[in-house]
Amino acid sequence: MQSLPIFINLIDQRCVVIGGGDVALRKISMLRKAQANKVDCYATEISASLLTLEKAGGLQCHARAFSPEQLDGACIVIAATDDAAVNEAVSIAAKARNIPVNVVDAPKLCTFTMASLVDRSPIVIAISSEGKAPVLARYIRAKIETMLPASYGRIATIAGEFREKVKARFSTVDQRRYFWEDMLQGPFVERVLAGQEVEAKQLLDEAISTADNAAKKGEVYLVGGGPGDPDLLTFRALRLMQQCDVCVYDKLVSPEVMALVRRDAELMYVGKSRSNHTMPQEQINALLARLALEGKRVLRLKGGDPFIFGRGGEEIETLMQHGVPFQVVPGITAANGVSTYAGIPLTHRDYSQACLFITGHLKPKPDSDEMNLELDWQAMARPNQTLVIYMGLVGLPIICEQLLAHGVSPDMPAAVVQQGTTQHQKVVTASLEDLIAEVQAAEIKAPCLTIIGEVVQLRKRLNWFEPKS
Ligand SMILES: C[S@@+](CC[C@H](N)C(=O)[O-])C[C@H]1O[C@@H](n2cnc3c(N)ncnc32)[C@H](O)[C@@H]1O
Repeated sequence: MQSLPIFINLIDQRCVVIGGGDVALRKISMLRKAQANKVDCYATEISASLLTLEKAGGLQCHARAFSPEQLDGACIVIAATDDAAVNEAVSIAAKARNIPVNVVDAPKLCTFTMASLVDRSPIVIAISSEGKAPVLARYIRAKIETMLPASYGRIATIAGEFREKVKARFSTVDQRRYFWEDMLQGPFVERVLAGQEVEAKQLLDEAISTADNAAKKGEVYLVGGGPGDPDLLTFRALRLMQQCDVCVYDKLVSPEVMALVRRDAELMYVGKSRSNHTMPQEQINALLARLALEGKRVLRLKGGDPFIFGRGGEEIETLMQHGVPFQVVPGITAANGVSTYAGIPLTHRDYSQACLFITGHLKPKPDSDEMNLELDWQAMARPNQTLVIYMGLVGLPIICEQLLAHGVSPDMPAAVVQQGTTQHQKVVTASLEDLIAEVQAAEIKAPCLTIIGEVVQLRKRLNWFEPKS
């Protein structure tokens, strides 16, 4: 962000607009809509529309050329003339007086800009592209307009009317938040949207008098955050991410996905990398149970899917032992997301009728420091199938060597995809016998996924995500 969006109360504040044409009219109308009731407009020529608006009150038009002292005592200034020199003079005079100034269509002369608005008063959404892409901002505004029924403003107004009652009934901020979150997901909203406000208010009254004031029982949401692209989250994942009190997250959750977690939630990083386990799994299991038993709504956010090489099963077993309620939200696993974004279908009627998900995580040999991979190489070497290997970068030489030794063709197509589905996606393709050399040459780093099988050759035709070179 390059500027801070704020909402200014303009009631009884002097606002000055320099300019008397259509643009000035639009700006003044906006100020009046925001309840500005002391607007002074200066211009040598004042349009008939402005003079009509003046009659409605809150605006005084002065048929005078600009002079800097007209800005004295103003709360904000807008320059809306078609004379660039006057606009610049207004900007200089306002800045000299430390008054926020907006010059229409001249971002360099502004100290504030006006946002595109979605008005569901008292809910107001301001959209800005910081002057970079006003058309995109308008497009986003149009999208939001269609998503928010007009009566959302009524919901906020009624909520405002009940604020004190709710405050008197529930002593803590968390209890009040839980109450409103329950209400906003239930029939109260439906009644308002249907125009049945009396019934809606009755529902609120009933809920306030019957609500349980005891501490809310916590819950754990075990959520798959997908492989990186935030657009791959499910609706349910997003909803729970928005209502958690604390988020316990892993290394592989992308920053773009993390940005969608409720802003006030406490963030706890427990990420793991191959050689650096920030927190052992048993402690993570216990932490989730403890936080939920303290009454918190705990978002356990994992990369990909929680049940695919994600240890989600162990975490909910512990929760069950402690009687902690939980729900599990599947995510798009790396195999699905990464292969799709690399243009590699995992099955294809001509090439592959099965697909194996395999962990390539190395384990120490018993009584030795040497690392090893114990996999069913025979099963992996069968024809007409696709192998998808997670966590297989360090063990890749063993994997290639063993597959070749068990009869897989040296020409078998293979791919390694780094940071799939993100803007940093990097893909290396090679025959099985050349794979290690190509991966080393491309300096591939974790996280990456290895795909081995005839289907990899389809990438040449089906690669849709990466820019064409
Ligand atoms: C501990 S496993 C977790 C898998 C996760 N639960 C899932 O369903 O995708 C981590 C491995 O997933 C793979 N992975 C996850 N996200 C990836 C991505 N965006 N690109 C490539 N590989 C990824 C890598 O092999 C990484 O080492």
